[in-house]
Amino acid sequence: MTRVLDDLLRKTLPEPRLDLIRRVADEASALKMPIYIVGGFVRDLVLGRDGLDFDLVVEGNAIALAHSLASKYGGKVTAHEKFGTAKIDIREWMLESSKANEDYSLVSIDLISSRSETYKHPAALPTVKMGSIEDDIRRRDFTINTLAVRLDGPHFGELRDDLGGLDDLEKKIIRVLHERSFNDDPTRMYRAVRYEQRYGFKIADETLALIPEARALVDKLSAQRIRHELDLILEEPHVASLLARLAELDLLKPIHAALSFDDAARQRLDKANFSPDYSVQHLTPANLRWLLWLINLSEKQIESVNKRLHFTSILYNALAASSNLLFSLSSFVDLKPSQCVTQLDEFPPFSIYAVSLAAPTGKSKENLEKYLTEWRHIKPKTTGHDLKKLGIEPGPKYQEILWTLRAAWLDGKVANGQEEESLLKSIL
Ligand code: CTP
Repeated sequence: MTRVLDDLLRKTLPEPRLDLIRRVADEASALKMPIYIVGGFVRDLVLGRDGLDFDLVVEGNAIALAHSLASKYGGKVTAHEKFGTAKIDIREWMLESSKANEDYSLVSIDLISSRSETYKHPAALPTVKMGSIEDDIRRRDFTINTLAVRLDGPHFGELRDDLGGLDDLEKKIIRVLHERSFNDDPTRMYRAVRYEQRYGFKIADETLALIPEARALVDKLSAQRIRHELDLILEEPHVASLLARLAELDLLKPIHAALSFDDAARQRLDKANFSPDYSVQHLTPANLRWLLWLINLSEKQIESVNKRLHFTSILYNALAASSNLLFSLSSFVDLKPSQCVTQLDEFPPFSIYAVSLAAPTGKSKENLEKYLTEWRHIKPKTTGHDLKKLGIEPGPKYQEILWTLRAAWLDGKVANGQEEESLLKSIL
């Protein structure tokens, strides 16, 4: 018997999104196109996990459906003929509907024509052809991602489970659909581990058995594809167990020989959830996790990993700086505050933050913390403008004078405006 999830859908989705789905589904019905939500949203719906993002798959021409919706409700359509996909900007719909206007987070929806995919050679990007909903379901990675809920007309809420996805969800199993799956797309090995650790599931034995052959193909993945998978992994709550499992399945070394995961890395990553109560530029959860994971690599190794993964320049510079700083940490023990600041001003603050988390308890760690919370903000009251007023010729001298004043504040040699003024006089 067909399982119907209409109540569950109605309970899970906020009214503005249901309203949106109804409009799209009614239009699809009028055009006689079955329409489904497929994939992650349905998986999470069945698991009782909140999810708001859905992929709408139309058995028919998604671009024609998008234009038809746009002529009724407005909104710009961006179509990709080659892939049979269309994006509609729905901000106008939001404004005009009393229900929909409560949800400003959704600015567009994607409509995808159901399709089949074939791979010309292992690890290649797929060749896409229009196909039935069955084809669209069969092109996917794991059984738990093949569930679809139909939305049009009287079919609203009907669950379609062609490949035993529900059974695997209940048994908590990650299973590929066919034995070439990892060869076609080696990123799926990383996705399998991500789902396994996220949901506390197990990868099926037959699926695990496919890893050894596909492991060699990781090398063929572009920098962008493999880095994207690692970015997703570093955003997961159970990041440490996830990386440990990847190491156990020997899936880190095939990306780059310098990538590994051990107890020390686990301890560092356990600190990734501390967020500072002060602001640090570029400190995102994923950036911090990258730094804490790779901080023990040498600068040379980081350069080499960057050649494989193509980090953003902000992250690459921060990785190199963190590794540098961690290696030179012991030299910070006996420095005066002004000497610490001279050195630390050269490092991105989010590298310093990562090193302060990774460093062992002691004077150096304290100095990094002091720099972040206090020292970096300490500035003299005198400005370049004041020096000009005093008749000093603008030039590199300004920098020197202002630094001498700042250093005096940092080292406790001046403590108020008057003392700064007398120091300034003595310098001049
Ligand atoms: N997919 C796939 N192979 C990939 C990537 C994606 O088969 N290498 C399919 C999966 O069926 C997945 C769907 O495309 O359900 C959408 O992919 P994505 O948005 O990455 O995943 P979600 O299912 O939304 O899961 P997540 O919660 O991880 O975002």
